[in-house]
Amino acid sequence: SYINLKNIELRDIPKIIAQDGRGNLSVIEKDLIPYDIKRVYYLYDVPSDSIRGGHAHKELQQFLIALSGSFDVVLDNGKERKTFTLNRPNKGLLIPCGIWRELENFSAGAVCLSLVSEVYDEEDYIRDYDDFKLYCKD
Ligand code: TYD
Repeated sequence: SYINLKNIELRDIPKIIAQDGRGNLSVIEKDLIPYDIKRVYYLYDVPSDSIRGGHAHKELQQFLIALSGSFDVVLDNGKERKTFTLNRPNKGLLIPCGIWRELENFSAGAVCLSLVSEVYDEEDYIRDYDDFKLYCKD
């Protein structure tokens, strides 16, 4: 069955603004993310014409944040697509398992932080789009 993309929205990450002008601080505590974080990684020095992602996961859930700069995340449930622009360090995108994702249009200096629910396991990837379409039908 197809995951409803309408339920996927950017989430606010709480922001603490220093009242004396020393800048902002954002905090991710456990209640913001519906899983225990097992791994943290980040994309950086990404050429503006790169497409990252291009896969789905069977189990892994993921929370993405543009720590710096901006990029687009295209989500695909096997039937329809929805594009999100991440361009603020206090917004995050929670990607459930079973969603195809592509990350593109990276700005200069963009950093994509990824907080994920599983350790790295190539067996959890669906890297072929036709395989993904079949997986969605099951
Ligand atoms: P991949 O997940 O395909 O990157 P992206 O979706 O950002 O394009 O991973 C790229 C390569 O890095 C691939 O060879 C697997 C490897 N890799 C690890 O070894 N450990 C990790 O935690 C991740 C995310 C990737």
